[in-house]
Amino acid sequence: MHQAKLTIDPAFKVAPVRRRTFGTFVEHLGRCVYTGIYEPDHPTADEDGFRRDVLELTRELGISTVRYPGGNFVSGYRWEDGIGPKDQRPRRLDLAWHSTETNEIGVDEFVRWCRKADAEPMMAVNLGTRGIEAALDLLEYCNHPSGTTLSDLRVANGAKEPHAIRMWCLGNEMDGPWQTGHKTAREYGRLAAETARAMRMIDPGLELVACGSSGSGMATFGAWEAEVLEETYDLVDYISCHAYYEEKDGDLGSFLACSTNMEYFIRSVVATADHVGARLKSRKRIDISFDEWNIWYLSHHQNAEPRTDWPVAPPLLEDHYHLADAVAFGGLLITLLRNSDRVTAASLAQLVNVIAPIMTEPGGRAWKQTTFHPFAQASRYAAGDVLRIEPVSPSYETADYGDVPLLDAVATHSAEGTTLFAVNRSTDGPLSLEIDARALGGKRIVEATTLTDADVYARNTADDPDRIAPRPNPDVEHDPMRVLLPPVSWNVIRLA
Ligand code: AHR
Repeated sequence: MHQAKLTIDPAFKVAPVRRRTFGTFVEHLGRCVYTGIYEPDHPTADEDGFRRDVLELTRELGISTVRYPGGNFVSGYRWEDGIGPKDQRPRRLDLAWHSTETNEIGVDEFVRWCRKADAEPMMAVNLGTRGIEAALDLLEYCNHPSGTTLSDLRVANGAKEPHAIRMWCLGNEMDGPWQTGHKTAREYGRLAAETARAMRMIDPGLELVACGSSGSGMATFGAWEAEVLEETYDLVDYISCHAYYEEKDGDLGSFLACSTNMEYFIRSVVATADHVGARLKSRKRIDISFDEWNIWYLSHHQNAEPRTDWPVAPPLLEDHYHLADAVAFGGLLITLLRNSDRVTAASLAQLVNVIAPIMTEPGGRAWKQTTFHPFAQASRYAAGDVLRIEPVSPSYETADYGDVPLLDAVATHSAEGTTLFAVNRSTDGPLSLEIDARALGGKRIVEATTLTDADVYARNTADDPDRIAPRPNPDVEHDPMRVLLPPVSWNVIRLA
């Protein structure tokens, strides 16, 4: 039996829990928008054509921000195509995903959907094929109250109140050669700086995100962040990180440890940003918007035959997640929370159908993927402050990351209670976790759930949607406090 321990002391604060850690992402990609959030002919469709079943699941997931409209899509997008009477909207080629975009959904509908989902819209501007002028026009259309041609157009299109969008991404993954309008760091940094400067002339209070690297494995990683921040440091609030993970070559041990890479990624970007800040003699601090993260079986999709047709909303990137995916995913969530001092916003990519926690059938059912559960539980129970818990755990050898602890965990604490989120990465046995909670003064475990299965590759399906779901953990002792974490499991332990 593996043994581990940790200490929960409310004095060891890292940072407040940031609601924006629980952001997500809706891109015009595959079936995320069409037959995902929007399907006017669906039996549950509301008066705007939004699927009520998806809205309900979205609210249960507990999301904060929603990034939109891309992703790679945004780098060829003309936002004006998506406003006004639907029957007059143009159909366009979407080069990013080799699809046809009907533009039935645009910024006004998206913001309306966000209000129904209790979510905050987060907008990306096109710095691939477009630039400063289109970004300014979109900002004026969305946020200016009225009295100008663009703001009055929004009012005429049915949105009397400004959309009041605070967070804006200055392009998407501009370091990636796959991006339409891909740029060097210097080219992008200059454009991002001038776009940010102009956007702040309309509203100095915006929160702006400069594109960081689309992965820590990019050849330009590190240098990209430094050059972009040299140009933009005083003009932006965040630098973005994007990271996707998958199990490769049957190496489950390395896969379950993938948050090690996320931790490295965050530390490297913080160090780079602070280095630029020091050189500029700036007292300002740049935070991280980890605005794309998830499990994504990218290598499977890359091996698919290239498309020759231009379909509308084809099924793309529809990964079906198993238990091990949910546990690796839980480790990523723990890592984001643990770094809440610098990662102050994040977006799970994406929300529906496309590498998503929610799946739908066109015209049919909607259900929760395995990854839905860690996200929903963390969003619901992470509150107050994130605490440092100094875990002591046995480790195991991985091909990708060397020696990695079996236990990955973080705790949050508020006046209402304390919650521990923990992953057991062990594939060969349970982990007995001893919790020293003396500093909490007599608190007891009031609930312990675990997400696990005898088959680590078991999935949820439309026919069996609850195969993988959190269940009460029967192996709890109170004095001393001890919980048995099953092998390959995500666990939530609540004290009150
Ligand atoms: O989330 C899927 C895609 O991954 C996004 O469009 C892009 O930004 C990233 O490469």
